[in-house]
Amino acid sequence: MMDPGQQPTSSDLRDFSRKVREAPTREENRTSAARSMKIAQGETEGEEDLLRALEELRAQYEKLARAAGRLREVNRELELTVASRTTQLAMANHTTDELLTAERRAREEAEIANRIKGDFLALLSHEFRTPLQAIFGYTELLERQIHGPLNEAQLRDLKRIQQSQQHLLGLISTILEFARLEGGKEIEVHLCPTSVHEILREMEGFIGSQLEKRDLKYDYRCDGEAIFAHTDPARFQQIVLNLLANAIKFTPAGGHISLECASEPGTAVIRVIDSGIGISDEQLETIFQPFVQIRAKHSTTEGAGLGLPISRRLAIAMGGTLSASRNPESGSTFTLRLPLARDL
Ligand SMILES: Nc1ncnc2c1ncn2[C@@H]1O[C@H](COP(=O)(O)OP(=O)(O)OP(=O)(O)O)[C@@H](O)[C@H]1O
Ligand SMILES: [Mg+2]
Repeated sequence: MMDPGQQPTSSDLRDFSRKVREAPTREENRTSAARSMKIAQGETEGEEDLLRALEELRAQYEKLARAAGRLREVNRELELTVASRTTQLAMANHTTDELLTAERRAREEAEIANRIKGDFLALLSHEFRTPLQAIFGYTELLERQIHGPLNEAQLRDLKRIQQSQQHLLGLISTILEFARLEGGKEIEVHLCPTSVHEILREMEGFIGSQLEKRDLKYDYRCDGEAIFAHTDPARFQQIVLNLLANAIKFTPAGGHISLECASEPGTAVIRVIDSGIGISDEQLETIFQPFVQIRAKHSTTEGAGLGLPISRRLAIAMGGTLSASRNPESGSTFTLRLPLARDL
């Protein structure tokens, strides 16, 4: 710096003129101010951007916080649902266990009841058979007139007593047989190659008098006399006789009964066809249940309703089947299928 009274040296003057040269012009000063303003403005814009970014960040954060809250809620709901489902499952398992136990108990009770019923029927049948045999014995003595002569009317009555006795004995035998089959005991069958034709051709001899009495036509047709079934001949005969007895019983006078025999691969097929009262579709299966009898016009109420259930059990025990169907016109067809004897 120079003293106010001091004369400027040439160096001072040179210094001064340099400073004047180097000093910014007014234009330069304006430009520089504008630049400073711009920088200041730039700084302000940066700050606003930053604020905006912060604002967005806060909004995003709040959104995330809300989503996290919702997630916690959903999680809680899920936990509650799982807990409730687990309880339901446990209850369902418990109910299933209870049902299974009840079902087992019911089955055991039914088996016991069935056994008791079988024993009762067997006992009852046995108790009936003995006095029935005695009745027959005494009627025979009377018939022989050992204790004195009998007149015509007395002999006729004696015959009626014997017929009733035979009928009752037949009924009792059927019940006894059924009781035996129901008792859970294995059905005893003696299977052997059996000529179907030889058994069936004998049938007319058994039913001839009944056919005549009821005015029924009968025919027997066998599509192969060499058909051999692997079966128990006595049981086979018993089934066919049962079916023929039914056909006779449920066919009104003037009707027709046929017995047919044919073979299908591996099977002997025996059919009893009648032109009788027929069986409705709903009853085609129920008639194989024990003690089921369909009461219809013209039909008698004879029998116990056991012939078919016994026959079906026997057929099954011999590896066969027994079924019923309706004929297109009238009457029914009962079809017995038995396995063919392989080695013949
Ligand atoms: N061929 C048939 N036509 C019409 N109905 C029949 C025939 N066979 C059987 N049924 C019906 O089926 C029922 C059951 O027959 P099932 O042979 O078991 O008993 P049932 O003949 O009445 O008595 P059981 O055979 O014990 O002497 C009969 O009562 C009858 O209603
Ligand atoms: Mg019968």
